[in-house]
Amino acid sequence: MQIHETRDALDKALAPLRQAGQRIGLVPTMGNLHAGHLALVEAAKADCDHVLATIFVNPLQFGPAEDLDAYPKTPREDIQQLEQAGCHSVFIPATSEMYPTGLENQTLVTVPGLSERHCGASRPGHFAGVCTIVSKLFNMTQPDKAYFGEKDFQQLQVIRKMATDLCMPLEVIGVPIARNDKGLALSSRNSYLSASELEKAPELQRQLRQAAQAIAQGATNFNNLQEEATAALNSAGFDTDYFTVCHAQTLEPAEPADTDLVILAAAWLGKTRLIDNIRIRPDP
Ligand code: PAJ
Repeated sequence: MQIHETRDALDKALAPLRQAGQRIGLVPTMGNLHAGHLALVEAAKADCDHVLATIFVNPLQFGPAEDLDAYPKTPREDIQQLEQAGCHSVFIPATSEMYPTGLENQTLVTVPGLSERHCGASRPGHFAGVCTIVSKLFNMTQPDKAYFGEKDFQQLQVIRKMATDLCMPLEVIGVPIARNDKGLALSSRNSYLSASELEKAPELQRQLRQAAQAIAQGATNFNNLQEEATAALNSAGFDTDYFTVCHAQTLEPAEPADTDLVILAAAWLGKTRLIDNIRIRPDP
């Protein structure tokens, strides 16, 4: 696996691949890799000739009171895992490589509407930070396809809209959520959880599944479902940020007649903010 730390090295490595007509699959990450990230690599390997992962903890998407400094960094293990997964190259730039003139006057890419609710409301500026770095990565690497996890469902839909609205010549692919054997969605932030929090954490997915089942069985009073799930989570020791039944494309609160749904949830467990979601689709 090739490891590139500078744009120059990346350009030099990618140019001949493009000339040879190879299809490039991009897997952007912030490192501290787990099976969820590796599922993106697998998906990319299945339909591209060259899989390029990136590891960059993007300061622009963290709020001033967030966990940028504490964010787990494990580059050596990450490289090993990518190599074992059959990834072809990885780009691990320094912050100065991605933001050569600093963060202050950085041009931002913002996606109105979709970015404003849910995580966007709780984390102002977060999605502008994500879209800006993902745009830079798209421009630097010019992939045929880029892979993102459904675990961050709002992020996936925001990036899809950005790519469509800005006529970016690539396909954005969503990959299903990887979970541990208790149902907890894998996340680099799970490493912040204490042993007792780790036991409680799968309750978030249980509440999502319960609400999804109620909807599948005909429940249409989404407010009730949201309130019940929030109360159950809070009494289990979470501090629920949101638990909302949404239209899966617009991410607006769902109407009873909507059929393509997603329930988005975010909840604090101690000092850790967990997110998860579940899709509810009409039968094909
Ligand atoms: P990060 O949290 O490292 O996640 C990188 C990619 O892995 C994202 O597309 C995310 O949705 C996916 N992912 C994480 N956990 C997953 C799981 N359990 N199952 C499936 N996919 C999972 O998301 C980011 O980084 C950043 O915002 C980034 C897009 C790299 C921009 O900085």
